[in-house]
Amino acid sequence: MTHQQPDERTQGDQKLDSELGARTYSATPEAFIDRVILVTGASSGIGAALARACGSLGARMVLSGRNVGRLEATYDAIIAAGGPRPSIAPLDLERADASHYAVLADAVRSEFGRLDGLAHLAGQLGELAPVEHYDVVTWLRVMHVNVNAAFILTQALLPLLRTSQDGSIVFTTSGVSVRGRAYWGAYAASKFALEGLMQVLADETDTLTKIRVNSVNPGKLRTAMRARAYPGEDAASVPMPATALPTFLYLLGSASAGVTGRRFDAQDVRSDAT
Ligand SMILES: NC(=O)c1ccc[n+]([C@@H]2O[C@H](COP(=O)([O-])OP(=O)(O)OC[C@H]3O[C@@H](n4cnc5c(N)ncnc54)[C@H](OP(=O)(O)O)[C@@H]3O)[C@@H](O)[C@H]2O)c1
Repeated sequence: MTHQQPDERTQGDQKLDSELGARTYSATPEAFIDRVILVTGASSGIGAALARACGSLGARMVLSGRNVGRLEATYDAIIAAGGPRPSIAPLDLERADASHYAVLADAVRSEFGRLDGLAHLAGQLGELAPVEHYDVVTWLRVMHVNVNAAFILTQALLPLLRTSQDGSIVFTTSGVSVRGRAYWGAYAASKFALEGLMQVLADETDTLTKIRVNSVNPGKLRTAMRARAYPGEDAASVPMPATALPTFLYLLGSASAGVTGRRFDAQDVRSDAT
């Protein structure tokens, strides 16, 4: 049996430790109180769970999404948990034009003056179909909502993230964002593109700013999207969204300062994508 001294650890070991550490991260209010965090997809599934968790830890939340009724439910849950009063920022990423992004950025600037965290959870599955038969309009919509809108929103909010002492951007990817799979079409292509966007932006911000940029594959989780992707699956066998939250919280809070350009798997389940 060999024992590895700490100074002999490989870069791979350290990355693994960091990922496992993120999965078991236990967030404290110190890491979140007064942090200003915008979550897209805060109306449903993982985004709603993440927004509730950040808000109940004391973060000042901007809840973005399309369905205002469901955003209000997230708002109510944060208030009920004793969190600061969130802001609701409705934004349909399929239809928004430049003025909508500018209005959102202006609203965050005038209410908070800065942004400490931006978590992209909004996303669309599209259809599961072979490339040869994939509906072109659906392809364009999925690529627009999942990639183009995430890029435009990030660009609009970068000046506010730059004013943070400790800004963090998190893109949500997938098990099919590093290895494609038959029939996952635009969804897989869009998640590959998000990994690329994450790496480019991380490289651009690495030395010149305090902004860090990372991606998270949440792993399979019990949400509306998962149910659409796997209609025959017993939902009770699928973990709840809370399972992925430690990794997201690690990256959005102050604990991950200095960690950038990395892809995280929030669960140790890589074979079964959404
Ligand atoms: N669940 C999983 O197993 C799994 C695994 C890997 C990755 N992911 C990723 O995790 C993220 C969250 O997905 P989820 O599983 O939580 O699914 P979900 O419950 O279906 O949530 C999707 C979210 O995206 C929002 N959205 C969709 N189209 C939009 C648009 N045009 N404008 C604004 N918002 C829009 C939805 O808003 P509305 O409520 O208004 O529709 C909703 O909040 C996605 O990026 C997904 O790809 C999920």
